[in-house]
Amino acid sequence: MKIVFKTGRIEGIKTDAIAIGLFEKEGVDRYKGLDKAIDGLISNLIKKGNFKGKADEALFLIAPAKLPAKRILLLGLGEKEKFTIDKLRQGAAKAGQEMRAKGIKSFALSLPSPTPLPQADGARRKGQAVAEGLILGLYQFDEYKTEKKNGKKINEAVIVLEKKTAEKDIKKGVEIGTILAESANFTRDLVNRPSNDKTPIMLADEARRMAKRFGLSCKALDEKEIRKLKMGGLIGVSKGSKEPPRFIILEHNKNKKGIDTIVIVGKAITFDSGGISIKPSENMEKMKYDMSGGAAVMGAMMAAAQLKIPLRIIGLIPASENLPSGTAQKPGDVVRMMDGKTVEIISTDAEGRMILGDALSYSKKYKPDAVIDLATLTGACVIALGNDAIGMMGTDDKLKEKVRRAGELSYERVWELPLWDEYGELIKSDIADLKNVGGRPAGTITGGYFLSRFIEGCPWVHLDIAGTAWEEKGRPYKPKGAAGVGVRLLSELFLNYK
Ligand code: BES
Ligand code: ZN
Ligand code: ZN
Repeated sequence: MKIVFKTGRIEGIKTDAIAIGLFEKEGVDRYKGLDKAIDGLISNLIKKGNFKGKADEALFLIAPAKLPAKRILLLGLGEKEKFTIDKLRQGAAKAGQEMRAKGIKSFALSLPSPTPLPQADGARRKGQAVAEGLILGLYQFDEYKTEKKNGKKINEAVIVLEKKTAEKDIKKGVEIGTILAESANFTRDLVNRPSNDKTPIMLADEARRMAKRFGLSCKALDEKEIRKLKMGGLIGVSKGSKEPPRFIILEHNKNKKGIDTIVIVGKAITFDSGGISIKPSENMEKMKYDMSGGAAVMGAMMAAAQLKIPLRIIGLIPASENLPSGTAQKPGDVVRMMDGKTVEIISTDAEGRMILGDALSYSKKYKPDAVIDLATLTGACVIALGNDAIGMMGTDDKLKEKVRRAGELSYERVWELPLWDEYGELIKSDIADLKNVGGRPAGTITGGYFLSRFIEGCPWVHLDIAGTAWEEKGRPYKPKGAAGVGVRLLSELFLNYK
């Protein structure tokens, strides 16, 4: 889908359909011209209570012959006082979906000024939110459908601006929003794909292809190289599978000096059966999404390259399957990690922290100014925070504040949990330096605490995305399945990093 612009009044646009958003109890004042052009059709509907402007309301009208457009979509935006940039994102998504359901190929969307939004959100943010809503909302995963949904694809969305004034800012916003949403959709494709088609080797191939396309540097360490680095955590997890592990390294602005260096690390367990500590079979198929952190890192690198972010950004993705077999690691085994620490494996299902521990140790070689990891690390995070908040833990207040702000802007919001030293007591082992499970209490925190032991002395934030990476029901710009969470959050962090 292409997003293009036109200046003028919405009632003058010749198109298959136009979409306008109306608030509750607002009347049709902002679209007086359109209403007049169709002899008060909209104001009449409102007067008779047939359209109330409530969020969720969508009504298609067949336009009278004298209007250049064939149809009009009225979209409810809810209460004006409660309108936010995220509701604009949702509104754009719904507009796109309603149009697609009707088989419309090209439509015009009005972006009237003033849209009642806080000043800080500005024209650029408006454009960005509309592009994000449209592109994220129209996402479909049909790689495995024999009958493709090509027949129902929108070719073009025309954003109609009344005045030229904010056009430059809105266009810039659309450009940024398009990059962010397309990168998130790339991540969604990877996560939705079944694990038989995204083994660690295939994931590395995918990373290489993406890197080549967007001008990133990419290297994938194979099993021999991983062994040479003494990454005992990653090797241990991969032992149960015939598929060898990979350690994927992506770099943006590789050789630039004098700029801040950020390392982003993502867990990529391409399938988590639990290993010898095997998971119950119910819902096990969902564990293909246990590589969501790694996929988010790939998407964020893809966005960073296109946005030409003036930072040196390195993406690290330890990738492995976690399966049981005669060669798998076992509960009670002790593993030596890359940094020399020993870990007693209590559960082979706590594998994310094992591969991330090694990746965090590896990140130190870049002497980073900040390290951020993303992982579907704990089921406990889903219990604690549900599906609307990312669990955040970290060691640096300034970095945490930046991540929090990026979370608000992207609406991939984070909520902090404490990393007090007392929690460290729970993962002390009788026979090794650490154990990989701290029992049921504070499961998300002990996971985070475990990671903190591998990244001492550097500003670091851990994001547990177990509850946010998979959308169960489907929401306006988050169709059922992989959410692509983390890509827009990290991109906003890069864009606003100072
Ligand atoms: N990948 C899972 C965490 C997970 C669970 C993500 C449910 C999304 C939904 C992780 O590897 C895991 O199994 N963690 C264990 C840790 C426990 C053994 C300490 C868990 O959460 O049960
Ligand atoms: Zn697990
Ligand atoms: Zn896992």
